[in-house]
Order: sequence, then structure tokens, then C-alpha cells
Amino acid sequence: MTDPSDIRKGLAGVVVDTTAVSKVNPETNSLLYRGYPVQELAASCSFEQVAYLLWHGELPTEAELTAFEELERSQRALDPAVKRVVDELPLTAHPMDVLRTAVSVIGALDPDWADASPAGNLAKSVALLARIPAVVAYDQRRRRGLPLVAPDDSLGYSANFLRMTFGEVPSEVVVKAFDVSMILYAEHSFNASTFTARVVTSTLSDLYSAVVAGIGALKGPLHGGANEAVMHVFDEIGSADAAEAWLDDALASKKKIMGFGHRVYKNGDSRVPTMKASLDTLVAEYDRPDLLALYDALNDAMQARKGIQPNLDYPSGPAYHLIGFDTGTFTPLFVASRITGWTAHIMEQLQANALIRPLSAYVGVAERHVGR
Ligand code: ACO
Repeated sequence: MTDPSDIRKGLAGVVVDTTAVSKVNPETNSLLYRGYPVQELAASCSFEQVAYLLWHGELPTEAELTAFEELERSQRALDPAVKRVVDELPLTAHPMDVLRTAVSVIGALDPDWADASPAGNLAKSVALLARIPAVVAYDQRRRRGLPLVAPDDSLGYSANFLRMTFGEVPSEVVVKAFDVSMILYAEHSFNASTFTARVVTSTLSDLYSAVVAGIGALKGPLHGGANEAVMHVFDEIGSADAAEAWLDDALASKKKIMGFGHRVYKNGDSRVPTMKASLDTLVAEYDRPDLLALYDALNDAMQARKGIQPNLDYPSGPAYHLIGFDTGTFTPLFVASRITGWTAHIMEQLQANALIRPLSAYVGVAERHVGR
């Protein structure tokens, strides 16, 4: 009989495998993608460069980047068959469910879905990177009664994504803030959705199935769904002067405060200062000091009451709101970015695969027999 004290609920603190994709160091609050601090990547690189880095292990040369950008730009259009399926889905469907369905359709339409060679999976990964923005942008537009916007191949990933969502390219400040959020969300070691994707991959299922499962895991509010949940909290509180009383009520009723806390970082999420700086630029751009005041008031009250630090979803939620995304679109934006990390892990899992199959300690009824 397993000693119950040996069980690590939620696999907390359990190291299940090695990875060369990223390193999270909670002691120093640092996060490295393939050895590079994420803050440096956010300051100096585009999301496309970071995607290339996660997949290839090195930043691209100029020629490699040009070829990679051409490949990404050539696959951005929304497939009419995918659009037809999206159009069939009711507006009551959550945007994460629409995206999960769309990715499933993209996979079912790919005649090479079973090609799990490194080149085959890399091609699928780039295709998903290129194609997910069209689904996310179109879903938000159809909810507003607006038509599809065709991609613009002259634009970088983020500028094109924003144009496909809003019909025009916003200012450079907005494009940069969005690009930074994509870089920060791209990868985070064995988080719940990445681990999910690796579990599915470990059965030798295909890349699309692993990604669809990852989307399902990311949707939950304890994980990626928190960026959406943060905005609901902001809407509920309304203004900075109501934050303290709202928090006291929420804590008294034992609620988890969305956007705070992290399984790995206990002294602050390494990505927050970078995203908060981007949020500051957006607050100035859209002249919304009231939103920043609410952000600060809730954070200050949380620090005073619980001392639990914000995670990346805390600044990214209001940032996406300021850019103009519907609240339900926030977690699909996380998918658009994390597709890079998920697929890097799927390919890494296949390099040295072992079926992921843990054990459990049985605590049910003792053995008994039918009819006795
Ligand atoms: N609000 C209130 N209390 C909290 C919070 C929170 N957000 N986070 C942790 N705590 C408290 C717990 O109640 C618990 O207190 P107790 O020991 O008195 O019972 C203690 O801190 C430890 O919390 P756990 O839930 O055991 O920590 P765990 O590592 O399992 O949880 C998690 C991490 C799920 C992220 C949690 O902090 C949480 O629910 N946060 C809110 C959801 C959220 O923002 N998720 C985003 C994660 S980051 C990302 O996906 C980018």
C-alpha cells in the first residue's frame, strides 16, 4: 500500500522528464527560452524570431528569418472549409471551444496528419502558427457582425493579426505591446497544457490531437483561462476605490483571486515586469489611467492581505482589453502564442519517447464478489 504522504497531489514538485526548450528558475525569478532570458527576447526580437528559436534551438540568421517569415505569411488565410465550420457554431460557444474545433478541423483536413517525422511535425507547427490568428480574429469579428479580413502578407505576424481582427493596423506601440505578450506567453516548461500535449504525444497520437488536448487544458481558469477571468474581476470591481472591499469579500468567501499565484513562482512571475511595462505603454496610448489605478489598487490590496504575487495573466488581461479584444478572445490569444511551446515540446517528446502513465493508490471498496 502506497504511503499517502508519498503522493504528490497535482504532481507538485515532481520532475517528470528533462527538457531543453526552456528553464524556469523560481529562486531567481528567471525564465530562459533555449538559454536566452525572456526579457531580452521581448526587448530585442520579434515573435517570429522567438518561434524559430523555440523550434530550432537557435535564433535565425537574416536569411533564415526571411525564409521562415515567407513560409508563415504564405499560410495565413482562413481555409473556407474551416470558416464554414466556424460559421456553423453558435455564438454561445466559447471562443476557446471554437478554436479547439477549428484546430481539430485543420488537422482532419491535413492529408499528411500522420507524418510524425521531425520535418512533418515542424511543417504542421509553422502552419498552425500561421493559421490560428485567422480563426481567432474571424471569430471575434463574426461575433460583432463583421466580415472576414484577408491577411496582409506585407505585415509581420502581430501587425497582421491585429489588422485581421480590427480591420486596420494600430500604432507601433500597440503592435509592440501585443508582440511582447506573444513572446512572453510562448513557452513555460511543463505547465498543465504543455504536459497534456506531451501525455497525448507519448501515446504516439498525432500533433493535432496533442494540440487540441492542450487547448482544452489551457481553457481552465487555473491556467490560461485566468487572463479572461482577470478581466471579469476588473469589470466586477469597476473602479480602484472599490478594490479593497471587493477583495476582502472575495477572500472571506475563500475565492481564488484570478491573476495571482503560481505553482512554480512563489516570489513573483518573471514575466510580469515586462508585460506590466507594455501595459503601461497601452494605458498611455489609450489614456486609461483609471484602469491602471484599478490594477494597482487590487494588487496593493492583495499584497497587503495575502502577499501573493501577480502572474502574467494579471497584466495581459487588461492589456488585451485596451487593445480592443473581447474578453472571451483573451485565452485564444494565449493559444496563438503557446502553439510554439506546445509543438516544440511535442517534437522533443518524440525524440526520446516513453509512454506517460503514472500510478494511483486505490482507496475504494475492498475486493468483493457479485452475488455473494
Ligand atoms: N487567490 C487566493 N489565494 C491563493 C491564490 C489566489 N490566486 N493562489 C494561491 N492562493 C493560496 C491558496 O488558497 C493556498 O492557501 P492555503 O495554504 O491557506 O490553503 C496557498 O495560496 C497555496 O495555493 P495553492 O492553490 O495550493 O497553490 P497551487 O500551486 O496549487 O496553485 C494556482 C497555483 C492554481 C495558479 C493558484 O495560485 C491559483 O488558483 N491562482 C489563480 C488562477 C490563476 O491566476 N492562474 C494563472 C496561472 S499562471 C498562467 O497560466 C500564465
